[in-house]
Amino acid sequence: MQAKKANPHVINSTPNSAHSAIDVVLDTAYQGISASQWKKLFSKARESGLEQFIADMFAGKHINNSEDRPALHCALRNLKKTPVFIDGQDVMPAVAEVWQRIEALCNKWVGVTDVIHIGIGGSDFGPRLAIEALAHVPGIDSRGMRMHFLANIDTAELARILARAQPNSTRVIIVSKSFTTLETTMNAKAVVNWLKENNCTSGQISRALYAVTANVTAAKEFGIAEDQIFPFWDWVGGRYSVWSAVGLPIALQYGFDTFKEFLAGAEAMDLHFKNAPLEENLPVIMALALLHQQEKHKIKAYAVIPYADALDWFPKWLQQLDMESNGKSVDRDGKPVKYSSPIVFGSAGSNAQHSYFQLLHQGTEIIPIDFIAVREPMSNRPEAVAHHRILLSNCLAQAQALANGKDDENPNNVYPGKRPSNLLLLPKLNPFYLGALLALYENRTASLGALWNINSFDQPGVEYGKVLAKPIEKALASDETNIQASADIDAVTAARINLLNS
Ligand code: F6P
Repeated sequence: MQAKKANPHVINSTPNSAHSAIDVVLDTAYQGISASQWKKLFSKARESGLEQFIADMFAGKHINNSEDRPALHCALRNLKKTPVFIDGQDVMPAVAEVWQRIEALCNKWVGVTDVIHIGIGGSDFGPRLAIEALAHVPGIDSRGMRMHFLANIDTAELARILARAQPNSTRVIIVSKSFTTLETTMNAKAVVNWLKENNCTSGQISRALYAVTANVTAAKEFGIAEDQIFPFWDWVGGRYSVWSAVGLPIALQYGFDTFKEFLAGAEAMDLHFKNAPLEENLPVIMALALLHQQEKHKIKAYAVIPYADALDWFPKWLQQLDMESNGKSVDRDGKPVKYSSPIVFGSAGSNAQHSYFQLLHQGTEIIPIDFIAVREPMSNRPEAVAHHRILLSNCLAQAQALANGKDDENPNNVYPGKRPSNLLLLPKLNPFYLGALLALYENRTASLGALWNINSFDQPGVEYGKVLAKPIEKALASDETNIQASADIDAVTAARINLLNS
């Protein structure tokens, strides 16, 4: 009898290769990484000083070398309040004082119908994701408040919110680490004008305005009462800031206990990241798997697909986290890097299957995927259980199809296979596991930065465009149609301005 020909499309899978921490399971079976390759990856991690980097991060060392400061967002979820020192000073008393103020505010806001949270980037994605993700968690009460997120300078978002909010019972939280971000300050002024136009007195307006910022002086200059300003600190990066008072909406909307649970999940994941050996360390394993795919397959992108509609904002949050942290061409010492962050994209499954999965299955690029699934359905209703089973079946089926491919006489129907993926399984979607999920990815991103020798905590690349926008805005405001190229505006842009002004 002739031996059956091996399917050339099948990935070198390693069944039962799952690791878990705080009941979060990471299954790397479809990564196609052999035991000896894993061994080499862990050696590489050790050689690159990853263990020391992790210790330094938690110890408040100045790991953000370009800005000469620590990256201590982990202190913000250190509910046990074990001392965390920055240059000899314990930051935990200041962090705990903000927790008390958040709790007090939750108890104080009675009769508030609408909260407008104004902020962009790291001052928006985290709380927006959490509010969406937790909206339908059983037992969570939204305390009768409508939470609105205003980020875009495009007034479409502003108009949509103002059409729904009731001015006399609205509170406004202006969230900006720098308090200089144009979108945020302009939107804040527009909302203040709306309150004025709706006959709110100056006393009512000042009672309605709150700020969350590391630039308290600028917030006061804006007209916000000092006792309505929640500080955070320059050692918290904007994209790592949802754990600070930036996460106020979570506490206000769902209660302080929910916010604490969210912090507790992140704290538990931090303790795992800090203490587990590299071989069992979820964030590290995920970082190394990506590194392997990058070195082996020269991957340019990876996708993250949560099979949970409530996590639809997760990929957007992750895009900033990964690409703003590690989308860089030079390392900590200013030397060119060989690898840095791949492009990150994704959206909730199963919707995503009906969008770009064609390319994931049969396109010319290999794009590794993180499948995220939740073990428990949202409720025990038979309909919810049945839908959830279909959701999970789709998630498992996609991973298998991508890994093993399929042969066919018709080339159009061949699935090339060997497309790697992770399965990340959360026991349930609740505040604790949402916190754990976000902290898992934050620690994975920081690990990748350490492996690439990239500083994951600055973002110099976002500044140049902002600078160039200023003279362009001036030229647009002039209404002139004969703007000439200059030091700030090149010929193409000058022609575009003239077109817009004509
Ligand atoms: O432009 C990018 C950025 O600086 C992000 O890093 C940050 O999250 C966002 O803008 C908002 O900044 P801020 O919180 O200072 O308003």
